Amino acid sequence: MIFEQIASGGCQSYLVGCDETCAAALIDPEISQIDRYLALASKHGIRIRFLIDTHTHADHFSATQELARRLEVPVVMHRQSRAPFVDMHVDDGEMILVGDLRLRVLYTPGHTRDSMCLLLPDRLLTGDTLLIGGTGRTDLPTGDAAALHDSLFNRVLKLDPKLLVYPAHDYKKQGHSTLERELAGNPRLQKRERAAFVDMMGSLNLSMPTHLTEALRTNMSGGKTVGQLLSEATAKVSFMSMEELKNRIEGDERGLLVLDVRERDAYVEAHIPGAKLLPRGQLELRVNQELPDPTRRVLVYCDLGKVSTLAAATLREMGYTRAVALDGGMMAWSEAGYPMKEGAEP
Ligand SMILES: [Fe+2]
Repeated sequence: MIFEQIASGGCQSYLVGCDETCAAALIDPEISQIDRYLALASKHGIRIRFLIDTHTHADHFSATQELARRLEVPVVMHRQSRAPFVDMHVDDGEMILVGDLRLRVLYTPGHTRDSMCLLLPDRLLTGDTLLIGGTGRTDLPTGDAAALHDSLFNRVLKLDPKLLVYPAHDYKKQGHSTLERELAGNPRLQKRERAAFVDMMGSLNLSMPTHLTEALRTNMSGGKTVGQLLSEATAKVSFMSMEELKNRIEGDERGLLVLDVRERDAYVEAHIPGAKLLPRGQLELRVNQELPDPTRRVLVYCDLGKVSTLAAATLREMGYTRAVALDGGMMAWSEAGYPMKEGAEP
C-alpha cells in the first residue's frame, strides 16, 4: 500500500494507493495543496480514482470538487452530506474499492452529521471524529455531542486497539497514534459516561474557526473561495515589481498608463504620481470611456495587490492584452518611501 500523509497547516490529507493496480484515493484534500497531491500521485506512479471528504469541513477549503473537474473522477461523501457536487454517496458498512484495497466506511456522526471514518486493515482514517489527544468539536453546524459519544464509544473504540489512528487534524505534528494510546491518554476519552461527555463538550468554549463562513459556503455549495478567484486571476496576468514601476515613472516612460483601482478617498489621500483613478467597482461601467485604446500598456494597482490582480485579469478578459498588475500595493509602495502625490485627479 502506498500511503502519504500531507499536512497543510493543521489539516491532514491522505493519498492511499494500491501498488498492484496503481489506483488511489485522496482523502480530505485541501485547496492550496492541489499541485502537491498531483505531484505525489505522479511520483508514485498512481492515478487518483476517488476524492473523498470524511465530512463537510468548516475550517478548511476542500479541493474535492476542483480535483473532480480536473481528473474526471467522483467525489465521495457520506449519504448525509448536502453538498450538491457529491457524485457517490456512501453509507455505513459499505466499501470503496481502490484497486485491491478496500476502504470500509464507518458512519460516525457527532462532529458533523455527515462524518465518517475509513477503515483499512491496519489503520483508521478518523476524520474529525477522533483526533490525537482530542476529538472533533460538536458546537458547529450539525454537531451533536451525544452522537459523537455514541460514535466513539460504541463504534470507533470497539475496533482493534492496535489500529493506527490517522486524523484529519493534527495541530501538534504528532502524525499518527493508535486506538489504545488514545483510549489511555486522550483527555476527551476519559469522560466515558454519555452525560459527562456531553457536558464536557458543551463547556469547551472554543473560538470559531477563522474561515468558518467561507468554508461552509464553498464546501456546501461548490462555490469558489476568494483565494481561488485570486489564484485563477494570478495565472492570467503578468506583474511588474514596485521598483521597476518607480524607475519607469522616474524615467517618464510614455505609453504606460498607471491605473489606481481603489476608491476615490484613498486616491485623494495619496496615489502614485501620474496615476489615473478608476475604482474597481466602476471598471466595467467606465472602461470604454476611460481606456479607449486596448493596445495600451496598463499597470493596475490597489492597496494590497489583490484587487488589482482581479482587475488586471478582468481587463485582459476584455481584450486589454497588455494589462499588468503591480507586485505589491499602495501600502508597500508607501512603506518603501517611493514617490506619492496627494489630491484629486488632474
Ligand atoms: Fe472538521
